[in-house]
Amino acid sequence: MPHDPYQRLESPFALDGYVVVITGAGGAIGGATAEVLAAAGANVVVSDLNLDTAQAVADKVTKETGKETLAIKTDVTSESDQHALLDATLAKFGKITALINNVGWGEYTPLWEVSMDYMMKSYLLNTVSAYSLTKLCLPHLKKEENASVTFSGSAVGTTPSPEFISYSNAKAALLHMSKSIAAMSGPHVRSNSIVIGSVDNGEATLKAGYDPEMLRRLAESFVMKRRGAPYDIAYAFNFLVSPAASWITGVQLDVNGGGSYKSKMPTED
Ligand SMILES: NC(=O)c1ccc[n+]([C@@H]2O[C@H](COP(=O)([O-])OP(=O)(O)OC[C@H]3O[C@@H](n4cnc5c(N)ncnc54)[C@H](O)[C@@H]3O)[C@@H](O)[C@H]2O)c1
Repeated sequence: MPHDPYQRLESPFALDGYVVVITGAGGAIGGATAEVLAAAGANVVVSDLNLDTAQAVADKVTKETGKETLAIKTDVTSESDQHALLDATLAKFGKITALINNVGWGEYTPLWEVSMDYMMKSYLLNTVSAYSLTKLCLPHLKKEENASVTFSGSAVGTTPSPEFISYSNAKAALLHMSKSIAAMSGPHVRSNSIVIGSVDNGEATLKAGYDPEMLRRLAESFVMKRRGAPYDIAYAFNFLVSPAASWITGVQLDVNGGGSYKSKMPTED
């Protein structure tokens, strides 16, 4: 990357000329990421299983930034939908500079209460779909300068999480896969993950098995004393996709409000 230390501070984070495909972009984190990346200059492809929410995000982005967007219905677990997503992106924008594999879902699944079928479905949604879409996009990413793929990991994929066994296993595998992809796709394509802590996504976390009191306690346990906002994650995606991160690959970036601190000198409490 050409480097000018006297350029305005925001310039290394600008995404003018970038085409970024974001999966699960009708949701909280994906939607905020579409907004932030478009504000930084990118054309964003807003892909989601739910076309209504994807279209609403795309319309808002275009209204606020003037950037052309593409909203598209994609089930990331379907190979034919993945091909359709890539084809539509190339037909509209002619290239793909960055892929953000953001789809994911997990709910309360205690350690010994999950069927093999459920474990496999979680692995397909959270890990295998991202593998397959990345593989599909890689030849096109390789043609672009500072191309990247970035994954939405989870803090539950980095520590024992027996309450979310199907999801945490799948997210742990995703983090590992991101590093393997980094090793093989450099120097042309960078691969990184964001290890996301608890972020306010409205109803979705409640459906995953939490109640408001649990979430209050969780927020209180974090060093920063609050759960994340979707924009906290979106700015991290902006950084990892941008020229400012052009020498960063194979990393897991923790964005988690400092996580839960526990004293190394336990008391009886
Ligand atoms: N919110 C959190 O606390 C948190 C914490 C750690 C990791 N994450 C991860 O961040 C990512 C985004 O989470 P979020 O909080 O924005 O969730 P969200 O539920 O708000 O958004 C997820 C989106 O994915 C879409 N989706 C679901 N299945 C799909 C499929 N098969 N194909 C395409 N789209 C599909 C949904 O329609 C939804 O719009 C996920 O990978 C999640 O696991 C979230």
